Amino acid sequence: MFSLLFFFFYLFRLHLLIPGQNDLLNAAMPLSDHLTFNVFRYNMAMEVTQVLLNAQSIDGNVRKHAEESLKQFQEQNLSSFLLSLSSELANDEKSVDSRKLGGLILKNALDAKEQHRKLELVQRWLSLANNVKSQIKACLLKTLSSPVADARSTASQVIAKIAGIELPHKQWPELIGSLLSNIHQLPGHVRQATLETLGYLCEEVSSDVVDQDQVNKILTAVVQGMNASEGNNDVRLAATRALYNALGFAQANFTNDMERDYIMRVICEATLCPEVKIRQAAFECLVSISSSYYEKLAPYIQDIFSITAKAVREDEEPVALQAIEFWSSICDEEIDILEEYGGDFTGDSDIPCFYFIKQALPALVPMLLETLLKQEEDQDQDEGAWNIAMAGGTCLGLVARTVGDDIVPLVMPFIEENITKPDWRQREAATYAFGSILEGPSPDKLIPIVNVALNFMLSALTKDPNNHVKDTTAWTLGRIFEFLHGSTMDAPIITQANCQQIITVLLQSMKDASNVAEKACGALYFLAQGYEEVGPSSPLTPYFQEIVQALLTVTHREDAGESRLRTAAYETLNEVVRCSTDETAPMVLQLVPVIMMELHNTLEGQKLSSDEREKQSELQGLLCGCLQVIIQKLGSSEPTKYVFMQYADQIMGLFLRIFACRSAAMHEEAMLAIGSLAYAMGLDFAKYMLEFYKYLEMGLQNFEEYQVCAVTVGVVGDICRALEDKILPYCDGIMTQLLKDLSSSQLHRSVKPPIFSCFGDIALAIGENFEKYLMYAMPMLQSAADLSAHTAGADDEMTEYANSLRNGILEAYSGILQGFKNSPKTQLLIPYAPHILQFLDSIYMEKDMDDVVMKTAIGVLGDLADTLGSNAGSLIQQSLSSKDFLNECLSSEDHMIKESAEWAKLAISRAISV
Ligand SMILES: *[C@@H]1O[C@H](CO)[C@@H](O)[C@H](O)[C@H]1NC(C)=O
Ligand SMILES: *[C@@H]1O[C@H](CO)[C@@H](O)[C@H](O)[C@H]1NC(C)=O
Ligand SMILES: *[C@@H]1O[C@H](CO)[C@@H](O)[C@H](O)[C@H]1NC(C)=O
Ligand SMILES: *[C@@H]1O[C@H](CO)[C@@H](O)[C@H](O)[C@H]1NC(C)=O
Repeated sequence: MFSLLFFFFYLFRLHLLIPGQNDLLNAAMPLSDHLTFNVFRYNMAMEVTQVLLNAQSIDGNVRKHAEESLKQFQEQNLSSFLLSLSSELANDEKSVDSRKLGGLILKNALDAKEQHRKLELVQRWLSLANNVKSQIKACLLKTLSSPVADARSTASQVIAKIAGIELPHKQWPELIGSLLSNIHQLPGHVRQATLETLGYLCEEVSSDVVDQDQVNKILTAVVQGMNASEGNNDVRLAATRALYNALGFAQANFTNDMERDYIMRVICEATLCPEVKIRQAAFECLVSISSSYYEKLAPYIQDIFSITAKAVREDEEPVALQAIEFWSSICDEEIDILEEYGGDFTGDSDIPCFYFIKQALPALVPMLLETLLKQEEDQDQDEGAWNIAMAGGTCLGLVARTVGDDIVPLVMPFIEENITKPDWRQREAATYAFGSILEGPSPDKLIPIVNVALNFMLSALTKDPNNHVKDTTAWTLGRIFEFLHGSTMDAPIITQANCQQIITVLLQSMKDASNVAEKACGALYFLAQGYEEVGPSSPLTPYFQEIVQALLTVTHREDAGESRLRTAAYETLNEVVRCSTDETAPMVLQLVPVIMMELHNTLEGQKLSSDEREKQSELQGLLCGCLQVIIQKLGSSEPTKYVFMQYADQIMGLFLRIFACRSAAMHEEAMLAIGSLAYAMGLDFAKYMLEFYKYLEMGLQNFEEYQVCAVTVGVVGDICRALEDKILPYCDGIMTQLLKDLSSSQLHRSVKPPIFSCFGDIALAIGENFEKYLMYAMPMLQSAADLSAHTAGADDEMTEYANSLRNGILEAYSGILQGFKNSPKTQLLIPYAPHILQFLDSIYMEKDMDDVVMKTAIGVLGDLADTLGSNAGSLIQQSLSSKDFLNECLSSEDHMIKESAEWAKLAISRAISV
């Protein structure tokens, strides 16, 4: 468990980011258990300024001591601790630094990132004495009129946090009124701080806890603050940023034409303000409106186009980027709508498509093409760089996905004219434009063009003198292979005739600068992927050896570790292996000792620096990932599996060594590779269990790194399928750990569904031996089932999670039912049948299950009938599931659901007839 203070500083580093101070607090040390309790026991309140200053000292010892003192003070008397922090913040005679830190510690005492911690803090605040809370709140409100900007801003954030806790409990009812009364008469800096507070408040609380009258007043105050005649830029900026957060509160106003017109006019005016930050904030509002109020935009879109076009062409980068983002966001909306309804809105679609992009196309495309020419000199070297050219290209790609074929004639002249120009910027922009429009338009439209362009691209990739042009050319080739590979088409782009040339060029480019080499690997990746399931013979077969060799060479380049190059090379190698055919299996087999040797080498060097250790662990991950793909490939067909098994002992030995030398941090990739090995080996894997078991258990215990835990749970499933009842001796340990995980409040929720599925895997493997776990597993399944069944009012994310939970639970039931089939102990399950049926009925009635859940659910109904037979016949007959639900599944268009339902119907009829 974190110590509280450490927690403060941890959060402080993560979120609050005060320039120049991070480094100091970065060094925040773990606090020793031995506290010098005596010194600060008395008079802490008077000392608090000094302690807060000391907590920011450059001297590590002073800092550590101060942190300990703060911690003690808080433990000694929380009310008085928080009171002194708030009065520190409110006191204009104190230094800015102590005030700010005081405020931030106060803020962190109210909110935390982790959910369980956050709930704790909320409860703690609510249980403080009322007079303490009102004193703190009074200090905070007073701070809003401080002449010191940092103090005001800190107070704004703390007030919003308290509002976030109290307003939903109908506490602090006078807050909004008293903020609003600040708005009119007071000096500018108070209005600024008040608007900032209202903005944070809208971010913290949901609109339904504020009554409509107050919502109106907040919006009015905010919009008035944005008025150009306001004169004070700080106020205008605070108001514009507040509006961004308040837009979610403006639903009612956005349905009223006059009020919406007014809000839109004020925002559009603010996009023309002389102050760049205000313009940026105003465009951010437009971006947000483009997704929240898409259906209301028609009357304004023409004006918005003019405003954004001007900003894209003339304004400073942060503003221009937001202006481009507006159109990207409109594309996202229209792509979603068109995907969901396929352009047919006669049905019950919520929001029609207004085809804004299609209408703006003749003006939008030239505007975006211009942005492509604004490249930066070193953009390809700087990972994560973002600039106008990239934003413009991304937007162009989205436009292509939105309108399809219509974009092609608008972009082609630009490409044709500029791709041969002497200026690299023109060549690069033309290539980027081409690469960007490859997803969206139909193959019929693109293929003739690509057929002409391909040769040009290949020669540019070898001959162009400019690094950026080559980078973008390799990327564009990758996009061609990704979207237009066409190995199944009548007239494929890649033919016997040009395949050799393509491969030669790509392999050659892998020796180019690292950014170009990385993109060339990417292109090869999609080239290989296009030949997945091509049949017994792949056109890549003649080049397989050469490709593998070239990729291995890339992984050994001096500069491979600095960029993403090494990772790209291994990802491509994996794809090449994954998509290879039986013809090349002997060559894949030859790769095994090579990769094993590489892995072996990573285990040799001792005494590494922490930086080197991180690099080493990354490399081990890549190598384990590669072995996993090889194991899956060779393990999937009998002849190669047989030969491959000669390496199994050695491979397993390497994996165990990786675990052994990295005892604390488990290795996900090694775990996954072991899962594949178990799956390929079947019963033979049992010989490794004795040694491997302890790492398996460590993985299951590691719920702090929840991905490790989730991956390990999946591997338990693989092992169950491999070992069947030979896994029995390990089941007590595994089940104990899984049950412990489920009872922990700290388990990441995404791990729960796989744990439940894992119950099913275990039960299937050990059959009626699962008996002794029933009394533990069943109640957990039941309570999770109750939770997941009712989702009324949940948002999309919650519904998605509920469905994954339901699926896990259903897989558990299915595994248990099937495991007990034909056993004399079947009757042990009868008491659970009513609840299972009830669960099925209630998810049916909730009407929000996805297809996967539907299939598993109707399967469980069948399992129930199949395993329990006449014992459950009449119960099943009474359930909703056996009628309406079953009928719905029987008429499903999804053949998996239908098949499952037909089987269930048969099982039920047998159960009834007995
Ligand atoms: C904590 O501090 C408050 C305010 O200073 C005081 O009223 C209260 O008695 C203190 N509680 C304890 C347990 O010392
Ligand atoms: C801004 O305020 C001025 C003076 O109060 C008013 O005349 C004007 O109509 C306002 N502008 C907007 C867009 O509301
Ligand atoms: C929002 O709507 C309310 C109620 O119709 C109105 O009083 C308020 O002035 C509107 N606010 C804005 C900014 O249009
Ligand atoms: C080629 O690029 C230039 C900018 O460098 C641009 O002015 C011109 O319009 C482009 N050609 C076409 C046909 O779009």
